[in-house]
Amino acid sequence: ASRYTVALTGAGVSVESGIPTFRGEGGLWRNHRPEQLATPQAFDDDPGLVWEFYDWRRSVIHQARPSRAHEALAAMEEASEEFVLLTQNIDGFHRDAGSRNIVELHGNIWEVKSLADGSIRENRQVPIDPLPPKDGSGALLRPNVVWFGESLDPSILEAAFRVSSECHFMIVAGTSAVVQPAAHLPLLAKRNGAYVLEVNPEPTPISEWVDETLLGKAGEILPALAEAVIRRQS
Ligand code: OAD
Repeated sequence: ASRYTVALTGAGVSVESGIPTFRGEGGLWRNHRPEQLATPQAFDDDPGLVWEFYDWRRSVIHQARPSRAHEALAAMEEASEEFVLLTQNIDGFHRDAGSRNIVELHGNIWEVKSLADGSIRENRQVPIDPLPPKDGSGALLRPNVVWFGESLDPSILEAAFRVSSECHFMIVAGTSAVVQPAAHLPLLAKRNGAYVLEVNPEPTPISEWVDETLLGKAGEILPALAEAVIRRQS
C-alpha cells in the first residue's frame, strides 16, 4: 500500500538476462582485476585495454534482453503513485523494460564521455571501431561509468539520498550491498521509517537489520510482488 516506493537494484537483477555479476561465482571481479580495468589510472595507462573490456561487456549486453525482474519493476512503477528506481547497473535494461523514473548511480555503458570537455553522448556501436574511440577533435572518449576511486555525480548522489530518506517502502534487489555509497541507501531508508525488503538468493550484510529478506531469484520474486502491488492499487 506504499504511496512512495524506491527500488535499489544491483547486478543480480540482470543475472536472468545472462549478464554476470561482479562478486558471485563466475563474477567479473573473480576473473578480472578491477584495478587494471575499472580505474582512472588503468585508463591513463592503457585506454585500449580498458576499452576492450567495456567493448566486450557491451557486446554481451547487446545480445541480451531485459528479464522478468526488470519488467516487474517497470510494472510496479506503472501501478504506483510515486516510484523511483535507483540502479547500480550500467546495462540500461531498466529503461529497455519500460522503467522511466531511473537514477543510474554508476552511469551507463551506452554513453561515452569526452576527456576534452566532459560532454556525454550516446554511443550504440557494437563493436566500437576503432578502439579506443575519439571525438571529432581527436580527444579520447571514455565509457560514462563510475570507476573505482571516482566519486558519484553529486546531483545523482543527492537525488539518491533524498528519495531514500523520503520513501515509505524500499525494495533492495540483486545487490551484495557492499559497495558505497549505494550500500548506505537502505540504511537511510530504514532510519527514516521506510519498510525495507530485500530480494536476493543469498543473505547479505544488510539482511540482519532489514525488515524482511525474501531469499530467491529476482525474476521469480519481483513478478509476484508486482502482481500484489497492481492488485492492491486497482
Ligand atoms: P555483486 O556482484 O556484488 O552482487 C550481486 C548480488 O546479486 C549478489 O548478492 C548475489 O547473491 C545476487 N544475485 C545473484 N543472482 C541473483 C538473482 N537471480 N536474483 C537476485 N539476486 C541475485 O553486484 P552489485 O551489488 O551490483 O560498481 O555490485 C555493486 C557494484 O560493484 C557494481 O555496480 C559495480 C561493482 O564494482 C561499479 O562498477 C562502480
